[in-house]
Amino acid sequence: MTNQIVTINHLQKIYGKKKENEHMALKDISFNVDKGDFVGIMGPSGSGKTTLLNILATLDTATKGEVSITGQDITHLNTNELAEFRAKKLGFIFQNFNLLDNLSIYENIALPLSLQNESSVNIRTMVEKIAETLDITRILNNYPNEVSGGQQQRAAAARALVHQPSLLLGDEPTGALDSKNAKSLLESMKALNEEQLVTILLVTHDAFSASYCKRILFIKDGMLFKEIHRQGTRHDFYKEILAVLEEYSEV
Ligand SMILES: Nc1ncnc2c1ncn2[C@@H]1O[C@H](COP(=O)(O)OP(=O)(O)OP(=O)(O)O)[C@@H](O)[C@H]1O
Ligand SMILES: [Mg+2]
Repeated sequence: MTNQIVTINHLQKIYGKKKENEHMALKDISFNVDKGDFVGIMGPSGSGKTTLLNILATLDTATKGEVSITGQDITHLNTNELAEFRAKKLGFIFQNFNLLDNLSIYENIALPLSLQNESSVNIRTMVEKIAETLDITRILNNYPNEVSGGQQQRAAAARALVHQPSLLLGDEPTGALDSKNAKSLLESMKALNEEQLVTILLVTHDAFSASYCKRILFIKDGMLFKEIHRQGTRHDFYKEILAVLEEYSEV
């Protein structure tokens, strides 16, 4: 068994079908992510962060290069295989969390399991466990419009995690939250990473969010620009991140 959750080798992405419309969003990117890692992806607007995440999420395809998740090469799966792979192995939290308004928080979280034909007893056990981790047990019977933005976001995180994915992907998941709710979601993600070894890849432009990661990859113009690892306190890491962001504007 490999401990490697993500393997990316010489990844390239060119948008546009006609020559004159071509845009190389990712030039040549290689990196690995091991089980239990918490990796941040940072970079200026337009540097290719969402492109990279969408390829990992199997929502878009690479032009060239290798992309493997838990040892499986995802660049050669057909549509049905991709849908099954996504449903079993991946969890997503995006900026607009898209809970279904006419389902309770419980039903929203249970949805991925219902779609996989889990028994209702198993579903209850799994939903209650993840709800406890994310501190939303009290609101399970409420509807999305009856709870706070932060609680909605944690419910969306619970839905992304209830089937115990190998990899959790987030694209600016705290983008729509105020600082208190953002902090609470980040603390929850940190707990999941440390206590349940959930592997997380988080795209963010925000140094505070990034300071929760264990390592950060900085991209610029579709290339890896720098990588840093957290060594000391979160506050020291935060300052180091700000210094790297400063460096960007100078090159
Ligand atoms: N569907 C598309 N067709 C053509 N070009 C695209 C498409 N999606 C993105 N691009 C271009 O690819 C580049 C990378 O875009 P991407 O969305 O990955 O950037 P990003 O780093 O996520 O930026 P932001 O921080 O603003 O979200 C940009 O120049 C963008 O205009
Ligand atoms: Mg983006």
